[in-house]
Amino acid sequence: MKTAEKLKIVIVGTGYVGLTTGVALGYLGHRVTCVDHDTAIIEKLERGISTIYEPGLEELLKQSAPQVSYTKDLLRDLPDAQVVIIAVGTPSKENGDTDLSYVEAVAREIGAAIDPLKPPLIINKSTVPVGTARRVESVIREELEKRCIDCCFSVASNPEFLREGSALHDTFYPDRIVVGATAIDALNLVRQMYAPILEQTFTPPQAVPRPDGYNLPALVTTSPTSAELIKYTANAFLATKISFINEFSAIAEKVGADIVEVAKGVGLDRRIGAGFLKAGVGWGGSCFPKDVRSILFTGSQYNCELPVVQAALEVNRRQKLKAIEKLQQLLKVVRGSTVGILGLAFKPNTDDIRESPAIDVIEGLLEMGARVKVYDPVANEKYKQTYPDQQVIYCETAADTARDADALVILTDWDEFLHLPWAELAATMKNRIIVDGRNMLDREQLQQAGFTYTGIGR
Ligand code: UDX
Repeated sequence: MKTAEKLKIVIVGTGYVGLTTGVALGYLGHRVTCVDHDTAIIEKLERGISTIYEPGLEELLKQSAPQVSYTKDLLRDLPDAQVVIIAVGTPSKENGDTDLSYVEAVAREIGAAIDPLKPPLIINKSTVPVGTARRVESVIREELEKRCIDCCFSVASNPEFLREGSALHDTFYPDRIVVGATAIDALNLVRQMYAPILEQTFTPPQAVPRPDGYNLPALVTTSPTSAELIKYTANAFLATKISFINEFSAIAEKVGADIVEVAKGVGLDRRIGAGFLKAGVGWGGSCFPKDVRSILFTGSQYNCELPVVQAALEVNRRQKLKAIEKLQQLLKVVRGSTVGILGLAFKPNTDDIRESPAIDVIEGLLEMGARVKVYDPVANEKYKQTYPDQQVIYCETAADTARDADALVILTDWDEFLHLPWAELAATMKNRIIVDGRNMLDREQLQQAGFTYTGIGR
């Protein structure tokens, strides 16, 4: 990247999206300021310590250090910024609506401080309901009016599609970059910001190699409203796709088919695609549940029911309880049994437990009077902090979890679980039952190790 093309970028919010984007843009040569109101987060980041568990991130933090600075003070680098990216949290309200108070607070601060002679481009990267780009623009305008200033600035929508656990990979090698903007200057600036990614002109970081056969990503330019809706459509579609295969896992069980084989046969149809067809104990995380509820809420506001999406949510609610049903079938009496849970995170390669199926499964088992032992390669601590009242026994290893247990339940498809010495584990258990809630293990291998094996839909 030539020096002249480097931009001065301020990113507000250092969650998964903000921090990943910040270090990636810094690595690509831009001058980035990451802002967060949390002093502890800023202090850690300044010392090169990652505040989230994400493979490769700590290495990238170090590599991008000359280009990226961290501060609590949004106003420090705002005057020079050409781009301000809003990536703060947008939590769910009780009714499914999205709480935009953090986004609006940032917009207010920007409006109260920007230089009208050289206003930066404002980019919404947080997942926000349709109309938020317009809302941010009007909040900034209100603040400018208070200062008796009228100036021309743009708010663009640039939704983020990164997945936790592969956040850096998804940032450097996306399928597409979506930009919703009305002004051509805004679009050009975003194109300039992402040029190294769009053209793949950067040297891949060691921790994040370029995948073989990777094609240049498409730049999809739309109106801000379409860009906002693209994000919800994508997440609702993916969540529905998983719920769809989960629904079919039930019929596969009834008729004696194997849903893993079915998904393979279906996914090879290019119109359908193989991704997000893994049946299991359902989807969780910080995005699918929140975004699905949010788009349902938006639908209700516009008097537009979304029955397919509604059904996907309901199927997922029931799916999380499948592991308990299976245990009941095999153990007969759950009360007094010891159940070992393998996996607390909502997916592998993250310590994020938000809306993880483990929460409902553990809650249900405890209510039924089971003794519950748990183990996750990285999420034990987070789970303990978040659910201090759940009376579970935390284990340091999968082997500890298996000892004296009547059954094991896999709830997260960590690679580590693929390579466990199953026969050794079985030898230490009271009863050798395994419920593979992620269909990740080989039935025959487990049976040979002495287990009664059951998966989901097989
Ligand atoms: C998702 C979207 O993929 C991403 O584009 C968006 O920006 C944020 O939300 P993430 O929540 O990080 O990303 O994880 P993802 O890999 O999509 O998995 C979501 C959930 O679905 C996990 O609980 C996972 O275990 C589950 N899942 C995924 C399945 O049950 N089956 C599958 O086939 C795929």
